[in-house]
Amino acid sequence: MTTTVITNIGSLVTNTPGLGEGPLGLLRDAAVVIDGDRIAWAGPAGRAPAADASYDAKGRAAVPGFVDSHSHLVFAGDRTEEFNARMSGRPYTAGGIRTTVAATRAASDEELDANVARFVTEALRQGTTTIETKSGYGLTPHDEARALRIAAAHTSETTYLGAHIVAPEYAGDPAAYVDLVTGPMLDACAPYARWVDVFCEEGAFDGDQARTILTAGAKRGLVPRVHANQLSYGPGVRLAVELGAASADHCTHLTPEDVDALAQSGSTVATLLPGAEFSTRARYPDARRLIDAGATVALSTDCNPGSSFTTAMPFCIAIAVRDMGMTPDEALQAATLGGAKALRRTDVGRVAPGACADIALLDAPSHVHLAYRPGVPLVSAVWRRGVRELG
Ligand code: NIG
Ligand code: FE
Repeated sequence: MTTTVITNIGSLVTNTPGLGEGPLGLLRDAAVVIDGDRIAWAGPAGRAPAADASYDAKGRAAVPGFVDSHSHLVFAGDRTEEFNARMSGRPYTAGGIRTTVAATRAASDEELDANVARFVTEALRQGTTTIETKSGYGLTPHDEARALRIAAAHTSETTYLGAHIVAPEYAGDPAAYVDLVTGPMLDACAPYARWVDVFCEEGAFDGDQARTILTAGAKRGLVPRVHANQLSYGPGVRLAVELGAASADHCTHLTPEDVDALAQSGSTVATLLPGAEFSTRARYPDARRLIDAGATVALSTDCNPGSSFTTAMPFCIAIAVRDMGMTPDEALQAATLGGAKALRRTDVGRVAPGACADIALLDAPSHVHLAYRPGVPLVSAVWRRGVRELG
């Protein structure tokens, strides 16, 4: 195994307070030593141990690779017309998902696999080194299992979302669809999934249905996460906390009780997905309120063809700073360590000895530029599991 030292890092976010200043564990004039797929050492450049190879960061800033803990990448087709109509005044509803279900069912395995590969690569170029992705556009046992099998070839963070909407064939009998999701579909999907998710929303699944589905998944060893309180107030967030879900995702419409529940919870992360509000012209979730209450916040893309067709974590960071009340430090941490917590991972989201060697170099002197220079492609080099994939 060869070791590489990345030296001359102008500013390094470690997310490890013991290694540097403040909650970000910020180091200036730093170096990182990579050994195989892991970080062996991080600290002041002048004290870096010798390594087999060296890479000169030329004063650029380095951050942990982004951890995108919420995406929907297994789909075919797109929804350009729907987006166009929405930007001309039509509202967003859960119903558009059906369009993508039809296109996804009609696609070949190769086509779906190529789409996932394309989006994972697109995300990587923008600094994402860990990505969760979900099924949810198949809605039959065969198509959901196929989606998860394809996703599992690209990431270990796979989520069973058979309960995205009631499948069109079951429109008149949602109870029978819940039986399918908790029975034969779960049997087919469980081998390929780590997590179980439900879209708990008007037009999708109510609180009782969501509880039934998440509990059935948990019995099979899948840990719950919930699409909660995206389009309206509802039971999703409190259900997520009650069931000890790893995250409650969206959190756009929150009552004071919802905020308290997230703040009190030691285990449920509030995952905010500003790409969805951007692309549906909705109001953004209030990150400031959640952070001030004591909740743990993650930022993710929600990449999907309907409500948020972006893989760009830097874009989400910029919105979170501009419109959700987060400081640049908080947003950076939510997009790295926050995502890791939402995936219950301690080996990603930080630059520290023993962690995965996942690092993004920015063509900027500081991580603050991710929000300060919105829309500018600042990610100029990326290591994923120790392999330099870009730059
Ligand atoms: O997270 N909310 C549910 N699922 C996606 C949207 C899916 C779609 O519109 O195709 C979301 O926003
Ligand atoms: Fe989503």
